[in-house]
Amino acid sequence: MIESGTDSMRINLERKVDESYDIVFGRDLFPRIAKDLKESPLASRYVIIADSNVFKTHSQSLLRALRSEELKVDDIFFNAGENSKTMQTCSKIMDDMARLGCGRDTAILALGGGVTGDMAGFIAAIFNRGIPYVQIPTTVLAQADSSVGGKTAVDTQYGKNLVGAFKQPERVYIDVDTLKTLPDREYRSGLAETIKHGVIQDADFFEYLYEFVDEIINKKSPESSLKIAVNNCRIKGRVVEMDPHEKGRRRILNYGHTIGHAIEKLSLRAFETGESPDYLRHGEVVAIGMTVAAKIAELLNLLSVNAVMDQEKLLRDFGLPVKIPGEFSNEEIIASTKADKKAAKGKARYVLPAAIGAMHDFGGTYATEVDNEVVDQALKETR
Ligand SMILES: NC(=O)c1ccc[n+]([C@@H]2O[C@H](COP(=O)([O-])OP(=O)(O)OC[C@H]3O[C@@H](n4cnc5c(N)ncnc54)[C@H](O)[C@@H]3O)[C@@H](O)[C@H]2O)c1
Ligand SMILES: [Zn+2]
Repeated sequence: MIESGTDSMRINLERKVDESYDIVFGRDLFPRIAKDLKESPLASRYVIIADSNVFKTHSQSLLRALRSEELKVDDIFFNAGENSKTMQTCSKIMDDMARLGCGRDTAILALGGGVTGDMAGFIAAIFNRGIPYVQIPTTVLAQADSSVGGKTAVDTQYGKNLVGAFKQPERVYIDVDTLKTLPDREYRSGLAETIKHGVIQDADFFEYLYEFVDEIINKKSPESSLKIAVNNCRIKGRVVEMDPHEKGRRRILNYGHTIGHAIEKLSLRAFETGESPDYLRHGEVVAIGMTVAAKIAELLNLLSVNAVMDQEKLLRDFGLPVKIPGEFSNEEIIASTKADKKAAKGKARYVLPAAIGAMHDFGGTYATEVDNEVVDQALKETR
């Protein structure tokens, strides 16, 4: 007879996993993707997930490339836009996959911007308890940011990215030719995270952006797109390798995101309720958020005025907003920061620069609470 509570058993599940993957950079990569999948298959069938815009511009040619290698492939699309990044859309896509007969031996090809990457990656994490996926990012933002780090998520009515998982892709293909069809506003918006990477980690890259604004913005040359993509992945990759689970240093990637997410949420809500005809893009709110964070750092004597001005000039030159939209009050924005999932005990934390290319470490936490009065002042000075 076993006395209650005296017996225990350990289920030993310690494991070491290697989740490393390759990022391939180049032009006209769809045939290469198909060839790679033919030569080293990830599954017995594939499903392309894209939003309604990318479905029109790129899905068919990826589908054709895979079929010409005699791979079994289907495609599914959802309505474009951040407000599609929800559990409901995921459920619908997973039902479609089930209806098509997709099971465990399916791999997802996430073709599109950050919304598609986040959602398709999340589906890959949970469909049949996890299936492989490949990222094929088609926006500057997704090529800059969502291809490294393995974060996948959907939004809920209580906040952005509140439900998600870490799920690393098997491979990432960054085809800069896909950017040709990207609307100008999305192109510029994506460059905000690029500028962020310069500010948080790499003054030389920041300098390059400063010097080649025209080449990047007006000419949109494939060479500069490639250089940008490679540098973005290198910078983000290095930060993520040092801190894969965001215990400390990786927080620097959240630079500009405390205020950015707060405004993004307000802007999306205004769009959903019909108060506003459009919503601010992720990169746009990050640009505003970086401007406010730099101002906070300046007010706390943690950053020079020159650095604040250099950052603002570059953001402006790239056609990004650097002012708080008039329709949102400081009170609303501050309240919205506290609902962010990164707010510890209901207090928002800020990641602050020390100079162009370096962040404050705040004793290894890389983030700090800031008094409401200082945030309020910084917001006032950013109007
Ligand atoms: N996982 C991460 O680490 C990470 C990092 C940063 C941002 N994100 C997320 O990424 C999302 C924003 O990503 P985004 O800015 O790429 O938005 P998005 O995916 O909505 O794409 C922007 C717009 O561009 C269109 N589009 C995309 N590629 C196109 C192309 N090549 N040609 C024509 N149109 C194209 C889309 O249909 C959409 O209308 C946010 O939800 C954000 O939270 C995730
Ligand atoms: Zn971001």
